[in-house]
Amino acid sequence: MPLTAERFDARTWPDEVLEELFADAFPAFITADPEAKKYVGRVRDRFADLNIVLVEDGDVPVATGWGVPVSWNGELGDLPAGYTDTIRRAVRGRDRGQPPDTFVICGGIVSRSRTGLGLAGELITALRDLAPRAGCTRIIAPVRPTLKPAYPLTHIDTFAGWTRDDGAPLDPWLRTHWRLGGQIIATAPRSQTMTGTVREWEGWTGMVFPSTGEYVIPRGLSTLHIDREEDRGRYAEPNVWVRHR
Ligand SMILES: CC(C)(COP(=O)(O)OP(=O)(O)OC[C@H]1O[C@@H](n2cnc3c(N)ncnc32)[C@H](O)[C@@H]1OP(=O)(O)O)[C@@H](O)C(=O)NCCC(=O)NCCS
Repeated sequence: MPLTAERFDARTWPDEVLEELFADAFPAFITADPEAKKYVGRVRDRFADLNIVLVEDGDVPVATGWGVPVSWNGELGDLPAGYTDTIRRAVRGRDRGQPPDTFVICGGIVSRSRTGLGLAGELITALRDLAPRAGCTRIIAPVRPTLKPAYPLTHIDTFAGWTRDDGAPLDPWLRTHWRLGGQIIATAPRSQTMTGTVREWEGWTGMVFPSTGEYVIPRGLSTLHIDREEDRGRYAEPNVWVRHR
């Protein structure tokens, strides 16, 4: 099964192929971050060369991922606040003509039928290879831990420190980064903030929210706060900053 990496826009994939690749990768509320929405279009436009797909046997897309270049001075205090702040910094930096130095891996998906086969590692490796092309010497990632929904009440600082007996991170996605030399350097408790009306949140989660309060939601990395009076639901998504060598 030879794997090759190519730009996502190098060819036009049939809709059913894309549906298979992206199927159920993220919960419905993932797109409910209004601040991120302001920038995603410009990210696609300005950084299309940093959005790749891994293709098996020449014609089967099995994984996809993307990143953006930012300027970061290497100090923890200068890290973006998380995913949304990263894409904001990337777009603003590009528009100001500021030269970047740090490649940020922003997302990765392995086709559902191919998970558990180690493709995630191949994807991270291919994404890291983009850094020099983007003019970057440093590589970081605000990692969205895939096991976190099992522990929505646990603070991300605690969760990020959990390891197995062999010293590897307990979280599988963090573990994949770690195995490739990635080190946890910080957490991003509010990497993204998703908001919506009560009705929207009910649609996204398949639950009802009769009272104001805190709710555990399906696939939520943290809890959802519902304010019935203001007809608002607010959910902050925590990530973990990993730095690659
Ligand atoms: C996260 C994701 C990229 C991992 O891809 P993958 O190819 O399955 O990863 P790997 O085969 O390298 O497996 C990595 C580890 O996760 C474990 N794993 C894989 N799928 C798993 C699952 N569904 N549940 C629990 N553990 C799983 C593997 O056993 C492996 O653990 P190990 O360290 O003990 O070997 C993939 O599951 C995915 O696309 N998920 C949806 C999108 C997403 O959440 N992306 C990450 C945030 S942007």
